[in-house]
Amino acid sequence: MKIISSIEELRDQLRGQLRTAFVPTMGNLHEGHLSLMRLARRHGDPVVASIFVNRLQFGPNEDFDKYPRTFQSDAEKLEKEGVYVLFAPTEKDLYPEPQEYRVRPPDYLGNTLEGEFRPGTFIGVTTVVLKLFSCVQPKVAIFGKKDYQQLMIINNMSKQFALPTEIIAAETWRAEDGLALSSRNGYLSEAERAEAPVLYQTLNEVANEVRNGNLNLFALEKMAMDKLAQRHWNPDYVSIRKRADLQAPSAADLAQNVELVVLTAAKLGNTRLIDNLEI
Ligand code: PAJ
Repeated sequence: MKIISSIEELRDQLRGQLRTAFVPTMGNLHEGHLSLMRLARRHGDPVVASIFVNRLQFGPNEDFDKYPRTFQSDAEKLEKEGVYVLFAPTEKDLYPEPQEYRVRPPDYLGNTLEGEFRPGTFIGVTTVVLKLFSCVQPKVAIFGKKDYQQLMIINNMSKQFALPTEIIAAETWRAEDGLALSSRNGYLSEAERAEAPVLYQTLNEVANEVRNGNLNLFALEKMAMDKLAQRHWNPDYVSIRKRADLQAPSAADLAQNVELVVLTAAKLGNTRLIDNLEI
């Protein structure tokens, strides 16, 4: 596996490749990330991964500085997965000058859910992803459903800019007790780790109510929020939305059995976890 930090060297290395499959990450890799590498291998060749903790998508009071950086063991894992190139630019490599041009998702997608509680985060995400795509020029790129809103925003960006990169969605990889794997799980204390699966259990309870015909979505969201709060979580949202555009379904939508997803973000101690479940 070649480890490359400069954009120029990356271009040299990938020149002429027409079927590159790309998996962007921020490192601290776990089985969820590795499942994306495996999916990438089925959709293209060579597989290129990136590791870059992207300052642009972190808010001023978020965990950019303490975000876990485990480059050596990440590189070993990627090598074992048969990754051909690991693109690991420094901030100077990727942002040699201030990144003044940015991609702004439409407000209805970018400012809701995660965007409401982490203002501007998706501008940071789309900007870095467009730039990484421009460096790697992949035929396909893999994103996890774990970050459902991110996946949808990138998919729409790719379509609206007619990017030559097909976006492929990967299922969420979970621990045996249901907790979605995340680099941020490492922040949890032992007691918090034991409580953490309650988030996914709560999503399942909401989903089952809807599947059983309970369409009082507002009451279901409130019930879930109250349950989390009672268990000493600090929930930002539990929201039932349409899968197609992440907007709240109208009565007419519900009457037509439109496809739904329930999404949540909640803090357990100091750790903010997100998860979602297609209903
Ligand atoms: P990161 O959080 O490192 O995630 C990289 C990719 O792994 C994303 O597509 C994410 O959805 C996926 N992923 C994370 N946990 C997963 C799990 N448990 N199961 C399946 N897939 C999972 O998302 C980012 O980095 C950044 O925003 C990035 C897209 C790299 C832009 O900076």
